[in-house]
Amino acid sequence: MTCPSSALSRFRPSPWSLAIAVGLLLLSTLPGQAAVRPEERVRALVQAMTLEEKVGQMTQVSMELLSKELQSDQPHALDPAKLLEAIRTHQVGSILNEGGMGYTQAHWREVITQIQEVATKETRLKIPVLYGVDAIHGATFTLGATLFPQAISLASSWNLDLARQAGAITALEVRASGIPWNFYPVLDVGRQPLWPRFWETFGEDTHLTARFGTSYIQGLQGDDYGAPDRVASCLKHFVGYSVPASGFDRTPAYMAERTLREFFLPPFAAAVRAGAPTVMVNSADIDGIPGHANHHLLTEVLKGELDFQGFVLSDCRDIKRLYSRDRVAASPKEAVALAINAGVDMSMVPSDYSFPELLIQCVLEGLVPMARIDEAVTRILGVKARLGFLDDPNRAYPDPALQEVVATPEHTAINLEAARESIILLKNEHHTLPLTKSATVFVTGPTADKLSVLNGGWTITWQGRTESLYPQEKFTVLEAIRAKIGPERVTFLPGSTFDATLDLKATVEAAKKAEVTILCLGEGAYCETPGNITDLTLEPAQLLLAQELLKTGKPVIVVLLEGRPRVIAPIVDQAAAIVLGFLPGMEGGRALADLLFGEVNPSAKLPCSYPKAPNGHVTYDHKPLEEKEKNRYDPQFPFGFGLSYTTYDYRDLTLGKESLGRGESQTVSVKVKNSGRVAGKEVVQLYLQDEFGSVSRPVRQLKGFRKIALLPGEEREVTFTLTMEDLSFIGLNNTRVVEPGTFKVMVDRLEQGFTLK
Ligand code: BGC
Repeated sequence: MTCPSSALSRFRPSPWSLAIAVGLLLLSTLPGQAAVRPEERVRALVQAMTLEEKVGQMTQVSMELLSKELQSDQPHALDPAKLLEAIRTHQVGSILNEGGMGYTQAHWREVITQIQEVATKETRLKIPVLYGVDAIHGATFTLGATLFPQAISLASSWNLDLARQAGAITALEVRASGIPWNFYPVLDVGRQPLWPRFWETFGEDTHLTARFGTSYIQGLQGDDYGAPDRVASCLKHFVGYSVPASGFDRTPAYMAERTLREFFLPPFAAAVRAGAPTVMVNSADIDGIPGHANHHLLTEVLKGELDFQGFVLSDCRDIKRLYSRDRVAASPKEAVALAINAGVDMSMVPSDYSFPELLIQCVLEGLVPMARIDEAVTRILGVKARLGFLDDPNRAYPDPALQEVVATPEHTAINLEAARESIILLKNEHHTLPLTKSATVFVTGPTADKLSVLNGGWTITWQGRTESLYPQEKFTVLEAIRAKIGPERVTFLPGSTFDATLDLKATVEAAKKAEVTILCLGEGAYCETPGNITDLTLEPAQLLLAQELLKTGKPVIVVLLEGRPRVIAPIVDQAAAIVLGFLPGMEGGRALADLLFGEVNPSAKLPCSYPKAPNGHVTYDHKPLEEKEKNRYDPQFPFGFGLSYTTYDYRDLTLGKESLGRGESQTVSVKVKNSGRVAGKEVVQLYLQDEFGSVSRPVRQLKGFRKIALLPGEEREVTFTLTMEDLSFIGLNNTRVVEPGTFKVMVDRLEQGFTLK
């Protein structure tokens, strides 16, 4: 550290406070002694800490900073001297792996053990390090882990149990690597399909996002994220990151506070209520205020209104960017002061020690009050206390009882089920699907024979593109089809890459020889800014390939594997069937083959509107003025849509009351029957329209949904409850209001109205 010790001595704790802190720590571990409450232990610790120790706890660095020179074919190896420098000299309290690649669980356990050995043995206060990882759709960076459908696909299942189970399995496999903290779930609402992180979202709807987010958190954390098989969640990215005006990642969003509160805040509010202990900040800006400088949102709204008691983590390098990119701070030091005063508690620096050094200067110069530092450290240590790290540092080490928990047969079975329920049947002319297993099939297209296209970013590596690192025993779409109907019935040519056609003539000839073509289109894997595009239309080369194949007159089944809904309007009318996989995960190939050949009845529904044109995107919950001709909601496929191999009939939509008093709730019931010949699962969707309001209200908003299994001929009644919260909206003065008037309830094609007095 560069600061003179005389200046720092002002902030030295008294020897007594250390004695008290150590006493409390000891007391809590002695048998027969009443447990010391975590808040008391944290308070005593904070009092005993030096300023360097405090800012160290507020610092997160990357494993790359602590590693030996990277050999491209070797896993990271920690450099003991660098580790000591980080943890003993700079008192760093948290580490992440910024990039790198997947390691075995055994390697992870070794790494975490090495880190905790230094933290718990070589530092004065022996506070364990909090290690965090992006386990986005499973334990991303653990080799062989169960890798589930990405969020956009999971949301397509409309099955909250699957989200809970995916969360629980992810927690177990991450914890088995010795890691207690997952930078997930993403609660950004995906209302801008160009955004390259669209697939990290649970789609365009606020209610769906809140329900999936909280279910996932329940899976990750259970009742206690300190339990040996659970992890702490991190909500991201607070808030409004997902609607950049240009569609490019990390670029400005422009939205009024009412819009922010109506559409983007509720999932975070629900997740805070569900017990999420950490939040990561929006990396971009809203209305010219970078997320990391937004005192109103971080301190007044998140910590104040939402009563968030955990800690706020910056996104990667984003405090520095307040100076170097956003220019709202005139120096790196001002940037640190601005972010910490705005409410950021921990900085993901992550590749140097500038943050703790500058923050010490800020405190010494009075730019950041000591009370703010104490608050941040109290919040951070609160999470470490709840993880049990302060009671017993051994709990920060990999648990020997959790050795080798990757992709057990049970986890893989649940993953397969999740993929099966995530794949959406968008078109099925003349019952083209399911195919019979005796059919001869020509498989083609750039996504037919790759595992990366099933998984997308955050898969083994950040960009998820390195096909050679993927588990070779997993099935691509092509391999799964071959396995399903026998290789002799399947021919294959790639047809095109993502953006260039290959031998079109040979491809067309091969298509003519088979009974049916399965054309796999879409996107290669990408993550964050490298996934920026300027046109939502699918690459011309792929559309050309499709058009040439459609000319053969043979049925063409289009399979889409993509992270966002790419426009395919020129080929929709002629395609015999369209199946949208988005990013169905490591079992996605098998699940697609199951669905194509009728072993699985599709049950997924769109969690977003599928656009027909690259511009003029309108979400399903649009305003009445967007119903009008020319501005109308006219997607290729609407939100909530998805076909099945059976049919469902809805009847008897019934309300509990015709007229509701203030504070009362309304019950809504409806009968649903499987009127076809195969068993299936149907998503019953409840929408509400507030007919007249002081602010123009959406034409409909999802307020409830339930996925039910129905045998052929079976009928069930489904009942929902609407509360005052469901009837409320953000009013003229930007607060939540409920206005009397008339409401319309809609399920399938049925409608009923009621009045609120
Ligand atoms: C992303 C975050 C991620 C972080 C750490 C950032 O670039 O925006 O979502 O958690 O990196 O890997």
